[in-house]
Parts: sequence; C-alpha cells; structure tokens
Amino acid sequence: MTEFKGALIGCGFFAVNQMHGWAEVDGAWIVAICDRDPERLKIVGDQFGIERRYTDAQEMFAREKLDFVDIATTAPSHRPLVELAARNKVPVICQKPFAPTLEDARQMVRACKEAGVPLMVHENFRWQSAIQAVKAVLDRDEIGTPFFGRISFRSGYDVFSGQPYLATGKRFIIEDLGIHILDIARYLLGDVTAITTRTARINPKIAGEDVATMLLDHAGGATSIVDCSYASRLEVEPFPETLVEIDGSEGTIRLSQGYHLTVTSGGKTTVTDVSPPLYSWASRPWHNIQQSVVAIQQHWVDCLKAGCEPATSGDDNLKTFALVEAAYRGAESHKPMALADV
Ligand SMILES: NC(=O)c1ccc[n+]([C@@H]2O[C@H](COP(=O)([O-])OP(=O)(O)OC[C@H]3O[C@@H](n4cnc5c(N)ncnc54)[C@H](O)[C@@H]3O)[C@@H](O)[C@H]2O)c1
Repeated sequence: MTEFKGALIGCGFFAVNQMHGWAEVDGAWIVAICDRDPERLKIVGDQFGIERRYTDAQEMFAREKLDFVDIATTAPSHRPLVELAARNKVPVICQKPFAPTLEDARQMVRACKEAGVPLMVHENFRWQSAIQAVKAVLDRDEIGTPFFGRISFRSGYDVFSGQPYLATGKRFIIEDLGIHILDIARYLLGDVTAITTRTARINPKIAGEDVATMLLDHAGGATSIVDCSYASRLEVEPFPETLVEIDGSEGTIRLSQGYHLTVTSGGKTTVTDVSPPLYSWASRPWHNIQQSVVAIQQHWVDCLKAGCEPATSGDDNLKTFALVEAAYRGAESHKPMALADV
C-alpha cells in the first residue's frame, strides 16, 4: 500500500490533534516537523517520536523528500508557507482561517494551481460525525427541498486560555469560529448569494466581536440563519457542538445538544444518537473536533491517492472565506452584502 510521507509545520496548541490524526490515518505518516519555537518542536517531537526537526521551513523543504506538508500555524504565516510549498511542488494542507485577507487567499490558490500542486484547507467542522449524519439525510432526500435552516453555535466556553491570540485580534468570532459554521451552512444548503450580519462584543476583555447573527440567501432558494456566540451561559455547556435545524418541503431535521438527530419525514419521526467516537488520545468535549480531524486527514490521503480534488479545496474555501469577508463588511455598513460584490 502507498504510504505518503508528510511534514507538519507549526507544533502549537491544535497541531497535537493533527499529529494524533496522522497516527490514526491509513496511508500517510509524518516524517519531519517544523516550528520556529524550539520548545514546541521538542515537546511535539518527543511526544510523537519524530527525530527530523527543523526551526526553518525552507531548510526542511531543501532537506526532506515530501509527498505533502500540513501547515498548522496561525493565519499570518499561511501565505508565505503555502507559496513555499508550491515553489517546492509539494501538495499542501493549510489550517483555517486560510489567510489574513481574501486577496491573500486568492493568490495562494493561484500559486498552487500554477505549480500544479493539490491544496486543501483544513476546514474540519463539516467532517464531524453529526454534521455528516445531517448531510446524509439530505442526500437521501428524506425531507424534500430544504427551504429554511438554522446552524447555531452558542457557548460560554473559555477558548482564550488555550488560544490567547483569540482575545487580541480586531476580528474574532466570525473569523475564527463563524468561518466553520458558515462552511457548514454552505455544505448543507449550497452556495450563498447574499448575507446580512449583526455583531456584538459582550466580553469587555477581548478586542473583537464575540456574537454574530447572520442571515443567508442560498442560491438554491433556501434561507438560513447562522448564529454564533461565545457569550452565552447555558445550564449545560454545549461546546463545541454545532446545532442544526433544517425544514424541507417533506420533513424536518433537528440536530440537538447531546448529538441527538431527529428526522421527521413521511409522518414518522426517528431519533438517532450521532455522537462522535472517543479516540484513545481524545478528550471530552473536544472529541467531536478530534474525530473530524481524523476524517478530513483521511479524506486528504484518499484524494491524493485517487488524484481527485478534496472537498475543502482552496477553490471551495474561497467561497467560505468570501462569506466571512462579506459578513464583516455587512456588519460594519449595516447593509446586506451580495457575494458577487466581495
Ligand atoms: N479547526 C479547528 O477546530 C481549530 C481549532 C483550534 C485552532 N485551529 C487553527 O489552527 C491554527 C493554529 O492554531 P493554534 O492555536 O495551534 O496556534 P499556536 O499559536 O498554538 O501554534 C502555532 C505554532 O506555529 C508556529 N509558527 C508560526 N509561524 C511559523 C513559521 N513561519 N514557521 C514555523 N513555525 C511557525 C508557532 O511557533 C506556534 O508553535 C490557527 O489557524 C487556528 O485557527 C483550528
């Protein structure tokens, strides 16, 4: 069986999940890692038994023969690193948010196309077992034509202790979390033609918005609401669950807290437990996200093998990224934004 040799750049908070994910995936293994912080390099190298370690990505590309590279750094470094991979003709996975600006993202997609290298954005939320279960109901045409959706992520979880940089940026919830929820809306209900957005900052200790409410017009005719909050104190903390309601011409789907999927169709209602598996290395409540990391990384290997485009290719992610940009512009102007104008 083909085994693709990969390297990981950026050994920070989230990369540990990606490294566990690579150990779980069939058909690929990580042969080298890179971080400009020697301390992170040592922690991750020792934990996963990786001997080939670099503090400079350029040196790693020069010395290693790689079938792919997995970039798990934060957004400011994504463009130079993706372009470096493209110059070295190495297929590349890049974490979300794909880039600091939409223009950077477009240039990164172009660089990979011109170099002829596959590019996937590590947009993992749509790979969660519960979201895949919702998509399967839609694909089986159990509820007819969807006309309404609500994709909701409301939490009071302290994300700032693990990711302190999230408290300092001018943009927060749409760029960091909303990007996933908007991607799920696109995945389930199709591409978007216009978006209307309202934002708020409830937590006075952070710089960006921590609440966003968005109304989406989908090209297929459905309307959806994407609502995100990190300021919602609930009796049972739902982090990091995304809840879904979809109404169709012939039935309804409800994905509710605790991974309960309720489908009403043809006069019958079924309730299914769509909880994610708990890998031995996973920890609640993150196991939902950890399972999706394994799934998207397996998808990458399967696509590399088959020579097909990943579901969250650079081109696909430009559409999610454009929604983020349109949401911020619309929140600022208080006007609906047509995606064609972004
Ligand atoms: N999909 C998800 O569920 C999810 C969850 C958390 C974070 N993320 C994303 O993962 C990315 C990383 O987040 P994090 O919290 O792990 O960040 P982090 O700051 O903990 O880690 C980033 C690491 O990259 C290293 N780095 C930065 N630039 C580098 C360069 N040019 N060369 C080599 N190393 C470099 C840093 O030294 C650091 O160790 C972010 O884009 C974040 O949005 C995704």
